Amino acid sequence: MENKGQFSPLQNVPAHVAFIMDGNGRWAAAKYLPREAGHREGAASVRAVAAAAKKLGIKYITFYAFSTENWRRPAAEVAALMSLLGETLDRFTKEKDEVARLLFSGRREGMAYGVLQKLDKALAATAGNNGLVVNLAINYGGRQEIADAFTKLAAAGKKKITEADISASLYQNIPEPDLIIRTSGEMRISNFLLWQAAYSEFYFTDVLWPDFREPQLLQALVEYARRERRYGRRGG
Ligand code: FPP
Repeated sequence: MENKGQFSPLQNVPAHVAFIMDGNGRWAAAKYLPREAGHREGAASVRAVAAAAKKLGIKYITFYAFSTENWRRPAAEVAALMSLLGETLDRFTKEKDEVARLLFSGRREGMAYGVLQKLDKALAATAGNNGLVVNLAINYGGRQEIADAFTKLAAAGKKKITEADISASLYQNIPEPDLIIRTSGEMRISNFLLWQAAYSEFYFTDVLWPDFREPQLLQALVEYARRERRYGRRGG
């Protein structure tokens, strides 16, 4: 019998979910804690969401960990974020069989040597892992990514550039995100996956990133399962 109106998040699980993790600062302020405490709890959400995604059968997740614009924050906050990133990379390296294969999307130029070292170690240590792929967008900007793709194509002597050429020249050649989740009530794309988001579904929630864990992910997947993706075609 048809069962219209009931949706299991385990049906129609998106292959690729991307996260704009927002609200760490507000989470901390609400608790009279320094902003860094919000970022630390946010890093715990990153690990919890990766573990939940793996359990739910999601194949790819992308985390917007540090944008090219984030360098404009006070030096102490940038340093705290970079140190947390390093710590998280170390954890992914150590727990390699538990979590995922890591990928990096961003510009290496401008990143500190110590972070790049940890990043390269984590990428190498997890390269052989199957299952979930965790793509970390660090020192990432969507426009920069597209510009870098054109630079690569120009260097290869390409004169006539197709959409497929651009897709294949992005930082990572992985499926485009089916679902992009942004936390903390903001409704902007903020230079994230501009090329790849052409047909993505968006999910916005008021939940602050440090409070976003498995139950909140499930809620987003229920909403996603209800949506009809048309890619420009007529609805049926
Ligand atoms: C936004 O919160 C979040 C960030 C600028 C960075 C996201 C970083 C993490 C979750 C921690 C480390 C990441 C990894 C992958 C280990 P905000 O500071 O803009 O919050 P606000 O808008 O409330 O001030």
